[in-house]
Amino acid sequence: MIEIKGVDFVDGKLKFIDQTKLPFEERYVITDDYERIAEAIKHLEIRGAPAIGVAAAFALSFSLKYAGQNPDQQINKAYERLASTRPTAVNLFWALKKIMNIYQNDPDKKKSYDKLIRHSINILEEDAVKCQKIAANGLEIFKKKSKVLTHCNTGALVTAGSGTALNIIKEAYNNDLIEHVYAGETRPLLQGSRLTAYELYNADIPFEIITDSAAAYLMKRNKIDLIITGADRIARNGDTANKIGTYSLAVLAKFHKIPLYIAAPTSTIDYGLETGMKIEIEIRDKKEVTQLNDIPVTRGEYPVYSPAFDITPADLITAIITEHKVHKPPFNF
Ligand code: MRU
Repeated sequence: MIEIKGVDFVDGKLKFIDQTKLPFEERYVITDDYERIAEAIKHLEIRGAPAIGVAAAFALSFSLKYAGQNPDQQINKAYERLASTRPTAVNLFWALKKIMNIYQNDPDKKKSYDKLIRHSINILEEDAVKCQKIAANGLEIFKKKSKVLTHCNTGALVTAGSGTALNIIKEAYNNDLIEHVYAGETRPLLQGSRLTAYELYNADIPFEIITDSAAAYLMKRNKIDLIITGADRIARNGDTANKIGTYSLAVLAKFHKIPLYIAAPTSTIDYGLETGMKIEIEIRDKKEVTQLNDIPVTRGEYPVYSPAFDITPADLITAIITEHKVHKPPFNF
């Protein structure tokens, strides 16, 4: 089996697999250039909430490496740049604030670089441990050998460890609790058919890709026992921003009386947000809809509206699985 990590720290640099090239090419990038990492986050070479957070922590730390005489100016510039890459996954801001806080409270700025790297390594190592705990906690939701639907990609590619929602599926499979997995293809960037399929195939777990619009039909035909997805930002009341299409699945699940679970580390909880109403949703470039691999599938001049995420209200969520436990409603983080 191929062991993949979305992000890793190797010989003083960040190592990541370029997810835009998968599943056809396993191309790794190794860099300590914060601007290169910002680009990678913006263009989804590094993607998925926990991986974005880990990468951002290292990127902000690296910005000090070549800072010269004005480290304050350099780290502030890097902070702004990294914070502007993607607006929805709160892990990005969580990690940036953590690292910035350590820098600002460091009385000896000459030694800050080593400290920031050490804290970034902590964030990375903790992320890996959280993945294991989420998987162990997640086993509790399986009452029998199950047919599971998942959306987007939430495996090892999106963490410094073994993943969140998809890692629960892997753990359940190892415990003989998975009959079959359906991976929603996840239009428009196909994280499901490219990345989740890649991870399930490598793990030898029986699966099929479905188009996003096939989900209702499968639910009606009793082909889905439960749904598990990840999250990009969870409000204190449990409202959850995740990949566009998650809300549709939640509404369908309610209609068909199928439980829907969210799995995420607590770094995805935005404790400053009472509800999901104020979560900023990223709007993606129209070309991602009008073209497939640079080939036009419709006329370029047609207008497009392409939100990358939606918000599933807490009352459609059966439970939220974190590294601490399976949280049942009413949620109060
Ligand atoms: O736009 P993406 O691919 O970064 O969106 C990712 C998702 O929506 C994931 O479900 C989420 O980040 C959880 S990853 C453990």
